[in-house]
Amino acid sequence: MASALSGAISVLILGGTTHLSRPLLKWLLDPAQDAARSSVEIKHIRLADKFLISNGTSTTYIEPDTWEALKDPRVEYRQVNLNLAPSLSKVYDHPDGDSYDVVFDFTGEGVGQADVPEELLIERTAKLAHSIAAESLRRNVKAHIRDTVAFLTIDPSSPPATEADVVKPKTPRAYWWYEAERAAASVPGLPLAITRSAEVVGPYVFHASIPSRYALGRVYAHLNETYKLLWGPDLRVHTIHVDDWCPAAWKLVEFISSRSRAEADEQAGEALPPVRMKDKLQDSLRENVGEECCPRTLTPRAPVFNLVDDTDLTQGKLLRMIGEAFGIQTGFTNAVINAWARVDLASIVDDINEKHANAVAEIVQQTGIEDVALKGWIDTEMLANRSLALSNAKAKRVLQWQPKVQVNRQRLDEILDRIRELNQFPK
Ligand SMILES: *[C@@H]1O[C@H](CO)[C@@H](O)[C@H](O)[C@H]1NC(C)=O
Ligand SMILES: *[C@@H]1O[C@H](CO)[C@@H](O)[C@H](O)[C@H]1NC(C)=O
Ligand SMILES: *[C@@H]1O[C@H](CO)[C@@H](O)[C@H](O)[C@H]1NC(C)=O
Repeated sequence: MASALSGAISVLILGGTTHLSRPLLKWLLDPAQDAARSSVEIKHIRLADKFLISNGTSTTYIEPDTWEALKDPRVEYRQVNLNLAPSLSKVYDHPDGDSYDVVFDFTGEGVGQADVPEELLIERTAKLAHSIAAESLRRNVKAHIRDTVAFLTIDPSSPPATEADVVKPKTPRAYWWYEAERAAASVPGLPLAITRSAEVVGPYVFHASIPSRYALGRVYAHLNETYKLLWGPDLRVHTIHVDDWCPAAWKLVEFISSRSRAEADEQAGEALPPVRMKDKLQDSLRENVGEECCPRTLTPRAPVFNLVDDTDLTQGKLLRMIGEAFGIQTGFTNAVINAWARVDLASIVDDINEKHANAVAEIVQQTGIEDVALKGWIDTEMLANRSLALSNAKAKRVLQWQPKVQVNRQRLDEILDRIRELNQFPK
């Protein structure tokens, strides 16, 4: 299939500095990945996000590798408030007067933050995804990739979710990230592909629950206590390593840029119907979205792909690795705690987080580490009795993509070792 991407191309990455943008930027610049990019030459990359990132200082976590990447003459970082229409439009103005060929939309509220009000999720997740998609269409981009972070969890007993399964969001955050998919999908003719990523893991990527949960082994070693997880060993926490995510995303870029949207929908399109959440509380808020999102009367169609590896990580496997890595006792909470957690998970999580924060402060003081890259707290929604379990059959079939990385002890230890080298985690 002839890709529309030829010669030297330009890439615009919007948002996502806390999660996918940094590994993707490095991958796009890496000469070793040339074959994986089908030898397309990268002429220019602009990363645009809300953080101040300049000359070695930043309002978000940036590791030395990314600082190096930002020095590449092909790369430009721009601090911008994408929620302002004129700023959004300007970010698409190419420095050489060309146009951007590929856009990655990683924007949206709630990544690594809990309890974002719904009003913000509407504006800065769903409506923003729509404005960005509309601007990409106006600017004739050749591929527009919209990512949904690992918020679309399922019942613990369900088989892994396929892209065709109707999404049943259990939290406002999941609901509005799904609405963002619908909003992008409703822009007609946009060369769009939507990715639903499992927990993205890899060096210097700390937004997901796994690096924090793994690193907490060090906290329990310090406390000399048994490290316990809620619910049970079978709860799935599916993963994808950045070394697999980036090639998959590039295959999607090639897929969507080499056919019309109608053809892409024919081969890989999914219906994205309006859905309801169980709680009635915010129904009017949710019902009243209009043209700035996707109206509730529409069921748009778009290519959707789960991006997930073959690790099939579960809490049980994760705990076993933690026990081995830190030489600590591990287990699961008892029925009494589980019963309490069913009623008031947030209060349990608050207590745990407070205990962790105190222990982390002691460890920082004792070991003289400079910075805690990993957060000492864990997001309540990530500890709910829900599985993150996705099927990758479609991505394998349609994109001829194959995940290569097993998220095992070696991969998880590597994440900690890389920040140990920076004195950001105790030896
Ligand atoms: C950037 O940082 C270097 C070294 O810290 C300093 O010498 C230089 O003046 C800074 N440049 C700007 C534009 O702030
Ligand atoms: C850890 O706890 C166990 C049992 O509670 C105790 O026997 C042991 O001495 C403790 N180790 C340290 C280093 O405090
Ligand atoms: C977790 O949820 C499942 C149903 O979704 C339920 O069968 C199971 O008992 C729950 N686990 C606990 C420990 O409450």
